[in-house]
Amino acid sequence: MGRVKLLITGITGLLGVNLAWEAWQAGHEAVGVARQRNLPRAPFAVLQADLSQPEAAARVWRAAQPEAVVHAAALADLDACERRPALAARLNAELPGEIAALAARDGVPLVHISTDAVFDGERGDYTEDDPPRPLSTYARTKLAGERAVLAAYPAAAVLRVNFFGWSLSGKRSLAEWFLNNLQAGKPVRGFSDVFFCPLLVTHLADRVLAVLERRLSGLYHAVSPRCLSKYAFGVALARRFGYDPALIHPASVAEAGLAARRARNLTLRSDKLARTLGQPLPSWEDGLAAFHRQHTEGYPQRLRAWASLP
Ligand SMILES: NC(=O)c1ccc[n+]([C@@H]2O[C@H](COP(=O)([O-])OP(=O)(O)OC[C@H]3O[C@@H](n4cnc5c(N)ncnc54)[C@H](OP(=O)(O)O)[C@@H]3O)[C@@H](O)[C@H]2O)c1
Repeated sequence: MGRVKLLITGITGLLGVNLAWEAWQAGHEAVGVARQRNLPRAPFAVLQADLSQPEAAARVWRAAQPEAVVHAAALADLDACERRPALAARLNAELPGEIAALAARDGVPLVHISTDAVFDGERGDYTEDDPPRPLSTYARTKLAGERAVLAAYPAAAVLRVNFFGWSLSGKRSLAEWFLNNLQAGKPVRGFSDVFFCPLLVTHLADRVLAVLERRLSGLYHAVSPRCLSKYAFGVALARRFGYDPALIHPASVAEAGLAARRARNLTLRSDKLARTLGQPLPSWEDGLAAFHRQHTEGYPQRLRAWASLP
Protein backbone atom coordinates (compact mmCIF):
# COMPACT_ATOMS: atom_id res chain seq x y z
CA MET A 1 0.00 0.00 0.00
CA GLY A 2 1.44 3.38 -0.86
CA ARG A 3 1.35 6.12 1.73
CA VAL A 4 -2.25 6.59 2.90
CA LYS A 5 -4.08 8.87 5.29
CA LEU A 6 -5.06 6.37 7.96
CA LEU A 7 -7.76 7.23 10.49
CA ILE A 8 -7.28 5.36 13.78
CA THR A 9 -10.05 5.62 16.36
CA GLY A 10 -8.98 4.82 19.91
CA ILE A 11 -5.48 6.13 19.10
CA THR A 12 -4.58 6.49 22.79
CA GLY A 13 -5.58 2.89 23.56
CA LEU A 14 -3.24 -0.08 23.78
CA LEU A 15 -3.83 -1.08 20.18
CA GLY A 16 -4.29 2.43 18.77
CA VAL A 17 -1.00 3.89 19.93
CA ASN A 18 1.08 0.87 18.90
CA LEU A 19 -0.68 0.75 15.53
CA ALA A 20 0.01 4.47 15.08
CA TRP A 21 3.68 3.76 15.74
CA GLU A 22 3.83 1.00 13.13
CA ALA A 23 1.84 3.04 10.60
CA TRP A 24 4.15 6.01 11.11
CA GLN A 25 7.22 3.77 10.73
CA ALA A 26 5.71 2.45 7.48
CA GLY A 27 5.39 6.02 6.20
CA HIS A 28 1.61 6.44 6.46
CA GLU A 29 -0.02 9.65 7.57
CA ALA A 30 -2.00 8.81 10.72
CA VAL A 31 -4.93 10.83 12.00
CA GLY A 32 -6.09 9.78 15.44
CA VAL A 33 -9.29 10.13 17.40
CA ALA A 34 -9.52 9.99 21.19
CA ARG A 35 -12.05 11.15 23.71
CA GLN A 36 -10.00 12.51 26.59
CA ARG A 37 -6.33 11.73 26.30
CA ASN A 38 -4.14 13.41 23.72
CA LEU A 39 -0.75 12.88 22.09
CA PRO A 40 0.63 16.43 21.95
CA ARG A 41 4.10 15.33 20.82
CA ALA A 42 3.07 12.74 18.24
CA PRO A 43 4.14 13.38 14.63
CA PHE A 44 0.48 13.40 13.51
CA ALA A 45 -2.84 14.99 14.44
CA VAL A 46 -5.23 13.71 17.09
CA LEU A 47 -8.84 14.87 16.96
CA GLN A 48 -10.72 15.06 20.24
CA ALA A 49 -14.25 13.69 19.96
CA ASP A 50 -16.70 11.79 22.11
CA LEU A 51 -17.79 9.21 19.56
CA SER A 52 -20.75 8.19 21.72
CA GLN A 53 -22.42 11.47 20.71
CA PRO A 54 -24.71 11.59 17.67
CA GLU A 55 -23.02 13.05 14.57
CA ALA A 56 -19.53 12.85 16.17
CA ALA A 57 -18.38 10.09 13.80
CA ALA A 58 -19.57 12.04 10.75
CA ARG A 59 -17.82 15.20 12.01
CA VAL A 60 -14.56 13.34 12.55
CA TRP A 61 -14.88 11.78 9.11
CA ARG A 62 -15.30 15.18 7.44
CA ALA A 63 -12.31 16.58 9.33
CA ALA A 64 -10.03 13.61 8.62
CA GLN A 65 -11.01 12.69 5.03
CA PRO A 66 -9.40 9.28 5.49
CA GLU A 67 -8.13 6.92 2.78
CA ALA A 68 -8.19 3.94 5.17
CA VAL A 69 -9.66 3.36 8.64
CA VAL A 70 -8.99 1.20 11.68
CA HIS A 71 -11.80 1.38 14.19
CA ALA A 72 -10.26 0.44 17.55
CA ALA A 73 -12.20 2.71 19.94
CA ALA A 74 -14.47 0.80 22.30
CA LEU A 75 -15.63 0.48 25.86
CA ALA A 76 -13.17 -2.36 26.38
CA ASP A 77 -13.40 -2.73 30.17
CA LEU A 78 -15.65 -5.76 30.77
CA ASP A 79 -16.81 -4.69 34.20
CA ALA A 80 -17.48 -1.10 33.06
CA CYS A 81 -19.71 -2.57 30.33
CA GLU A 82 -21.80 -4.34 33.01
CA ARG A 83 -22.15 -1.06 34.91
CA ARG A 84 -22.97 1.04 31.83
CA PRO A 85 -24.78 -1.23 29.35
CA ALA A 86 -26.31 1.65 27.36
CA LEU A 87 -22.89 3.23 26.76
CA ALA A 88 -21.46 -0.20 25.88
CA ALA A 89 -24.25 -0.70 23.32
CA ARG A 90 -23.72 2.76 21.85
CA LEU A 91 -19.93 2.48 21.54
CA ASN A 92 -19.43 -1.23 20.86
CA ALA A 93 -22.55 -2.09 18.86
CA GLU A 94 -23.97 1.03 17.14
CA LEU A 95 -20.93 3.19 16.46
CA PRO A 96 -19.08 0.51 14.43
CA GLY A 97 -22.09 0.36 12.06
CA GLU A 98 -21.97 4.15 11.62
CA ILE A 99 -18.24 4.11 10.86
CA ALA A 100 -18.79 1.24 8.42
CA ALA A 101 -21.56 3.17 6.63
CA LEU A 102 -19.23 6.16 6.19
CA ALA A 103 -16.44 3.91 4.90
CA ALA A 104 -18.87 2.14 2.53
CA ARG A 105 -20.13 5.47 1.17
CA ASP A 106 -16.58 6.56 0.29
CA GLY A 107 -15.27 3.09 -0.65
CA VAL A 108 -12.51 3.38 1.93
CA PRO A 109 -10.93 0.15 3.32
CA LEU A 110 -11.95 -0.50 6.93
CA VAL A 111 -10.60 -2.83 9.60
CA HIS A 112 -12.91 -3.17 12.57
CA ILE A 113 -11.47 -4.60 15.78
CA SER A 114 -13.57 -7.19 17.61
CA THR A 115 -12.71 -9.70 20.31
CA ASP A 116 -12.10 -13.38 21.09
CA ALA A 117 -14.69 -12.95 23.86
CA VAL A 118 -17.65 -13.43 21.46
CA PHE A 119 -17.37 -17.16 22.26
CA ASP A 120 -18.58 -18.83 25.46
CA GLY A 121 -15.25 -20.61 26.00
CA GLU A 122 -16.87 -24.00 26.65
CA ARG A 123 -14.88 -25.72 23.90
CA GLY A 124 -12.03 -23.59 22.55
CA ASP A 125 -10.16 -23.94 19.24
CA TYR A 126 -12.83 -21.80 17.55
CA THR A 127 -12.77 -21.02 13.84
CA GLU A 128 -14.55 -18.14 12.09
CA ASP A 129 -17.35 -20.61 11.20
CA ASP A 130 -18.17 -21.52 14.81
CA PRO A 131 -21.30 -19.90 16.24
CA PRO A 132 -20.48 -17.26 18.85
CA ARG A 133 -22.23 -17.24 22.23
CA PRO A 134 -21.29 -14.15 24.23
CA LEU A 135 -21.45 -14.32 28.03
CA SER A 136 -21.15 -10.66 29.06
CA THR A 137 -22.45 -7.22 28.06
CA TYR A 138 -19.03 -6.45 26.55
CA ALA A 139 -19.09 -9.63 24.47
CA ARG A 140 -22.72 -9.21 23.38
CA THR A 141 -22.22 -5.60 22.30
CA LYS A 142 -18.95 -6.41 20.48
CA LEU A 143 -20.68 -9.23 18.58
CA ALA A 144 -23.50 -6.84 17.61
CA GLY A 145 -20.81 -4.38 16.46
CA GLU A 146 -19.11 -6.85 14.13
CA ARG A 147 -22.48 -7.80 12.63
CA ALA A 148 -23.40 -4.12 12.14
CA VAL A 149 -20.08 -3.52 10.33
CA LEU A 150 -20.46 -6.43 7.92
CA ALA A 151 -24.12 -5.57 7.25
CA ALA A 152 -23.30 -1.93 6.43
CA TYR A 153 -20.10 -2.72 4.51
CA PRO A 154 -19.49 -6.32 3.38
CA ALA A 155 -16.09 -5.24 1.98
CA ALA A 156 -14.86 -4.38 5.50
CA ALA A 157 -12.59 -6.69 7.50
CA VAL A 158 -13.44 -7.65 11.08
CA LEU A 159 -10.60 -8.99 13.22
CA ARG A 160 -11.21 -10.89 16.45
CA VAL A 161 -8.14 -10.26 18.56
CA ASN A 162 -6.38 -10.70 21.86
CA PHE A 163 -3.15 -8.83 22.47
CA PHE A 164 -0.63 -7.53 24.99
CA GLY A 165 2.03 -4.86 24.82
CA TRP A 166 3.25 -1.51 26.10
CA SER A 167 0.56 1.09 26.77
CA LEU A 168 0.60 4.83 27.45
CA SER A 169 -0.47 4.39 31.08
CA GLY A 170 1.91 1.46 31.67
CA LYS A 171 -1.04 -0.37 33.20
CA ARG A 172 -3.39 -1.34 30.37
CA SER A 173 -2.24 -4.81 29.38
CA LEU A 174 -2.12 -8.06 31.34
CA ALA A 175 1.62 -8.27 30.66
CA GLU A 176 2.19 -4.84 32.22
CA TRP A 177 0.05 -5.79 35.21
CA PHE A 178 2.14 -8.91 35.85
CA LEU A 179 5.38 -6.96 35.34
CA ASN A 180 4.42 -4.06 37.63
CA ASN A 181 3.67 -6.51 40.43
CA LEU A 182 6.77 -8.63 39.81
CA GLN A 183 8.95 -5.50 39.86
CA ALA A 184 7.42 -4.53 43.20
CA GLY A 185 8.04 -8.07 44.51
CA LYS A 186 4.30 -8.48 45.09
CA PRO A 187 2.75 -11.94 44.84
CA VAL A 188 -0.16 -12.09 42.38
CA ARG A 189 -2.71 -14.61 41.19
CA GLY A 190 -2.90 -15.82 37.61
CA PHE A 191 -5.91 -17.75 36.34
CA SER A 192 -4.88 -21.31 35.56
CA ASP A 193 -8.35 -22.09 34.15
CA VAL A 194 -8.58 -19.27 31.57
CA PHE A 195 -6.91 -19.97 28.22
CA PHE A 196 -6.11 -17.45 25.48
CA CYS A 197 -3.80 -16.89 22.49
CA PRO A 198 -2.23 -13.47 23.05
CA LEU A 199 -0.45 -11.73 20.19
CA LEU A 200 2.07 -8.93 20.77
CA VAL A 201 0.25 -5.73 19.80
CA THR A 202 3.09 -4.78 17.44
CA HIS A 203 2.62 -8.07 15.59
CA LEU A 204 -1.13 -7.41 15.46
CA ALA A 205 -0.52 -3.88 14.14
CA ASP A 206 1.60 -5.29 11.27
CA ARG A 207 -1.21 -7.69 10.35
CA VAL A 208 -3.82 -4.90 10.51
CA LEU A 209 -1.77 -2.91 7.99
CA ALA A 210 -1.39 -6.01 5.80
CA VAL A 211 -5.17 -6.60 5.87
CA LEU A 212 -5.75 -2.99 4.78
CA GLU A 213 -3.13 -3.26 2.06
CA ARG A 214 -4.66 -6.45 0.68
CA ARG A 215 -8.18 -5.05 1.13
CA LEU A 216 -9.32 -8.26 2.80
CA SER A 217 -12.98 -8.48 3.67
CA GLY A 218 -14.98 -10.56 6.12
CA LEU A 219 -14.22 -12.14 9.45
CA TYR A 220 -10.72 -13.20 10.59
CA HIS A 221 -9.21 -14.38 13.85
CA ALA A 222 -5.93 -12.53 14.47
CA VAL A 223 -4.36 -14.23 17.51
CA SER A 224 -1.24 -16.22 18.37
CA PRO A 225 -1.26 -19.73 16.83
CA ARG A 226 -0.16 -21.03 20.23
CA CYS A 227 -2.25 -20.65 23.37
CA LEU A 228 -1.80 -20.96 27.14
CA SER A 229 -3.40 -20.13 30.49
CA LYS A 230 -3.13 -16.64 31.97
CA TYR A 231 -1.15 -18.17 34.85
CA ALA A 232 1.33 -19.81 32.44
CA PHE A 233 1.66 -16.49 30.59
CA GLY A 234 2.57 -14.73 33.86
CA VAL A 235 5.16 -17.40 34.66
CA ALA A 236 6.70 -17.16 31.16
CA LEU A 237 6.83 -13.37 31.45
CA ALA A 238 8.53 -13.56 34.87
CA ARG A 239 11.16 -15.94 33.45
CA ARG A 240 11.75 -13.75 30.39
CA PHE A 241 12.30 -10.63 32.54
CA GLY A 242 14.35 -12.44 35.20
CA TYR A 243 11.80 -12.24 38.05
CA ASP A 244 10.85 -15.01 40.47
CA PRO A 245 8.01 -17.01 38.83
CA ALA A 246 7.00 -18.28 42.30
CA LEU A 247 5.47 -14.83 42.91
CA ILE A 248 2.67 -15.90 40.56
CA HIS A 249 0.15 -18.19 42.17
CA PRO A 250 -2.36 -20.26 40.20
CA ALA A 251 -5.98 -19.30 40.89
CA SER A 252 -9.45 -20.02 39.54
CA VAL A 253 -11.45 -17.29 37.79
CA ALA A 254 -14.63 -18.63 39.46
CA GLU A 255 -13.29 -17.47 42.83
CA ALA A 256 -12.20 -13.99 41.67
CA GLY A 257 -15.58 -12.26 42.20
CA LEU A 258 -15.48 -10.35 38.89
CA ALA A 259 -18.61 -8.47 37.78
CA ALA A 260 -18.62 -9.68 34.16
CA ARG A 261 -18.76 -13.40 33.38
CA ARG A 262 -15.48 -14.59 31.81
CA ALA A 263 -15.24 -17.37 29.25
CA ARG A 264 -12.74 -20.10 30.20
CA ASN A 265 -11.32 -21.35 26.95
CA LEU A 266 -10.91 -18.54 24.42
CA THR A 267 -8.45 -20.38 22.22
CA LEU A 268 -9.06 -19.37 18.60
CA ARG A 269 -7.66 -20.70 15.34
CA SER A 270 -6.05 -18.06 13.18
CA ASP A 271 -5.05 -20.25 10.20
CA LYS A 272 -7.52 -18.48 7.88
CA LEU A 273 -5.66 -15.19 8.23
CA ALA A 274 -2.24 -16.88 8.05
CA ARG A 275 -3.27 -18.70 4.85
CA THR A 276 -4.77 -15.60 3.28
CA LEU A 277 -1.73 -13.44 4.03
CA GLY A 278 0.65 -16.30 3.13
CA GLN A 279 2.47 -15.71 6.39
CA PRO A 280 2.13 -17.41 9.81
CA LEU A 281 1.07 -15.26 12.74
CA PRO A 282 3.82 -14.92 15.36
CA SER A 283 3.41 -17.04 18.52
CA TRP A 284 3.09 -15.60 22.03
CA GLU A 285 6.67 -16.82 22.59
CA ASP A 286 7.88 -14.64 19.68
CA GLY A 287 5.71 -11.89 21.14
CA LEU A 288 7.21 -12.12 24.62
CA ALA A 289 10.74 -12.08 23.18
CA ALA A 290 9.92 -8.94 21.16
CA PHE A 291 8.10 -7.37 24.14
CA HIS A 292 11.28 -7.84 26.20
CA ARG A 293 13.42 -6.43 23.38
CA GLN A 294 11.17 -3.37 23.19
CA HIS A 295 11.70 -2.90 26.92
CA THR A 296 15.50 -3.02 26.62
CA GLU A 297 15.44 -0.67 23.66
CA GLY A 298 13.33 2.00 25.43
CA TYR A 299 10.28 1.58 23.17
CA PRO A 300 7.69 2.20 25.95
CA GLN A 301 9.39 5.49 26.83
CA ARG A 302 9.41 6.60 23.18
CA LEU A 303 5.72 5.79 22.89
CA ARG A 304 4.88 7.63 26.11
CA ALA A 305 6.88 10.68 25.03
CA TRP A 306 4.11 11.28 22.45
CA ALA A 307 1.71 11.81 25.36
CA SER A 308 3.95 14.13 27.42
CA LEU A 309 3.17 17.82 27.50
CA PRO A 310 5.30 19.96 25.17
N1 LIG B 1 -6.89 -5.26 25.14
C1 LIG B 1 -7.19 -6.49 24.67
O1 LIG B 1 -6.52 -7.49 24.96
C2 LIG B 1 -8.35 -6.69 23.74
C3 LIG B 1 -8.82 -7.98 23.56
C4 LIG B 1 -9.82 -8.21 22.64
C5 LIG B 1 -10.34 -7.15 21.91
N2 LIG B 1 -9.91 -5.88 22.14
C6 LIG B 1 -10.49 -4.80 21.31
O2 LIG B 1 -9.42 -4.06 20.76
C7 LIG B 1 -9.82 -2.70 20.58
C8 LIG B 1 -8.79 -1.78 21.22
O3 LIG B 1 -8.73 -2.08 22.61
P1 LIG B 1 -7.65 -1.38 23.57
O4 LIG B 1 -7.38 -2.34 24.68
O5 LIG B 1 -6.54 -0.87 22.75
O6 LIG B 1 -8.56 -0.17 24.14
P2 LIG B 1 -8.23 0.80 25.36
O7 LIG B 1 -6.80 0.74 25.74
O8 LIG B 1 -9.26 0.54 26.41
O9 LIG B 1 -8.51 2.24 24.71
C9 LIG B 1 -9.79 2.62 24.31
C10 LIG B 1 -9.66 3.73 23.29
O10 LIG B 1 -10.97 4.13 22.86
C11 LIG B 1 -11.13 5.52 23.10
N3 LIG B 1 -12.50 5.80 23.48
C12 LIG B 1 -13.21 5.25 24.49
N4 LIG B 1 -14.43 5.83 24.57
C13 LIG B 1 -14.48 6.76 23.58
C14 LIG B 1 -15.44 7.71 23.15
N5 LIG B 1 -16.64 7.83 23.79
N6 LIG B 1 -15.15 8.52 22.12
C15 LIG B 1 -13.96 8.45 21.50
N7 LIG B 1 -13.00 7.57 21.85
C16 LIG B 1 -13.25 6.75 22.88
C17 LIG B 1 -10.18 5.86 24.22
O11 LIG B 1 -9.89 7.26 24.22
P3 LIG B 1 -9.39 7.99 25.60
O12 LIG B 1 -8.04 7.42 25.91
O13 LIG B 1 -9.30 9.43 25.27
O14 LIG B 1 -10.42 7.64 26.65
C18 LIG B 1 -8.99 4.98 23.85
O15 LIG B 1 -8.24 5.61 22.84
C19 LIG B 1 -11.22 -2.59 21.17
O16 LIG B 1 -12.14 -2.69 20.12
C20 LIG B 1 -11.33 -3.80 22.08
O17 LIG B 1 -12.69 -4.22 22.20
C21 LIG B 1 -8.95 -5.62 23.06
